[in-house]
Amino acid sequence: MTLKPLVQAALLLSAVAASAAMAAPQVEVLHYWTSGGEAKSIAELKKMMEAKGVAWKDFAVAGGAGENATTALKARVIAGSAPTAAQIKGPSIQEWGQEGVLANIDAAATEGKWESLLPSVVTKVMKYQGHYVAVPVNVHRVNWLWVNPAVLAKAGAKAPTNFDEFFAAADKIKAAGMVAVAHGGQPWQDATVFESVVLGVGGAAFYDKALVKLDQAALTSPTMVKSFETLGKIKTYIDKDAAGRDWNLATAMVINGKAGMQFMGDWAKGEFTAAGKVPGKDFLCLPAPGTEKSYTFNIDSLAMFKVKSAEEQKAQLTLANAVMSPEFQEVFNLNKGSIPVRSGVSRAKFDSCAIRSMDDMAASSKAGTLEPSMAHGMAIDSAKAGAIQDVIAKFMNSSMTPQAAVQALAKAAKTK
Ligand code: GAL
Repeated sequence: MTLKPLVQAALLLSAVAASAAMAAPQVEVLHYWTSGGEAKSIAELKKMMEAKGVAWKDFAVAGGAGENATTALKARVIAGSAPTAAQIKGPSIQEWGQEGVLANIDAAATEGKWESLLPSVVTKVMKYQGHYVAVPVNVHRVNWLWVNPAVLAKAGAKAPTNFDEFFAAADKIKAAGMVAVAHGGQPWQDATVFESVVLGVGGAAFYDKALVKLDQAALTSPTMVKSFETLGKIKTYIDKDAAGRDWNLATAMVINGKAGMQFMGDWAKGEFTAAGKVPGKDFLCLPAPGTEKSYTFNIDSLAMFKVKSAEEQKAQLTLANAVMSPEFQEVFNLNKGSIPVRSGVSRAKFDSCAIRSMDDMAASSKAGTLEPSMAHGMAIDSAKAGAIQDVIAKFMNSSMTPQAAVQALAKAAKTK
């Protein structure tokens, strides 16, 4: 009689143990894809993993360009509970590799034949000490200008191709009582506009010297002064409520006709398409003024963290292979506004903006005008990028002169 509750408890325990053993393997993925278009995109990966019998634990940290995600990730890694994977890009992958916390996923790369599907500029970034530690997701183009053609028509303005035309259009939009430039006053958004301006004012070779090689002479040159002058002028077309505004809310202003134009990477297209808008009709994707022949790229990737069990490891490799699959590359990028990073994905379903991105990337690669985005962590290490971003934000939020800005920029570039 007295044994009965014990037996019941034991039965219960073994049932719990059995269900734990049978529980689906799981991956926990840290990302910051929380806007309308972004959330739709990452939901596709969750669906795909669940279809493969792997449970998805979402570790979403809101904040454009991962503003808050890195802090959250560091806290988890220090606490010894890193997620399975995290959206980490560019040179930062090497920084995390040096911490000794990333997992070797060569097995997935071999199985998926990544070497034959990815350009070597991409594989180099995904490896730490010769071994794959990250899987690339997509290619975003940063140097875009998003335009509402109905706003242009209402204002009697023309779609701009260079800065003279841009300011002419901005004047007309402003005079017609609408916001000319939709923007959110956050440091990474300021940096996004800044780098497109540098590219437009100075061209790809100057951009490379200044923002990739951090050449002191280029950073303090008259061309850089002119870039800040241009940025200062753009500032005068931004509405007074821009401080702290999220990028997708700025995009929404263009979508609903409150504003005419926005400098932003093509994750903005994800917002337009999620709102049912059609490129060429409801919105235009134009290369940022003066940047038609160049292309600043931003490659999203998931870096993999060391996991404990063989089962977790297996789920991690499944995740890596799912990301590189043509099915994922197609559906994710259709929603995200980016283009596939690997070869062998059909173009058939992609819209005119994506096709233009694909063609312009190939052309700029040939012409030597394909450049890594500084603002999106592709070009320089995070300490230098952070210091440079601070200077740009200070310029945007104060009466700092272009001359003072270039001096501060050159100093920031020396950050160790
Ligand atoms: C970029 C990132 C994109 C997009 C954007 C806004 O840095 O690469 O995937 O999420 O920030 O958050």
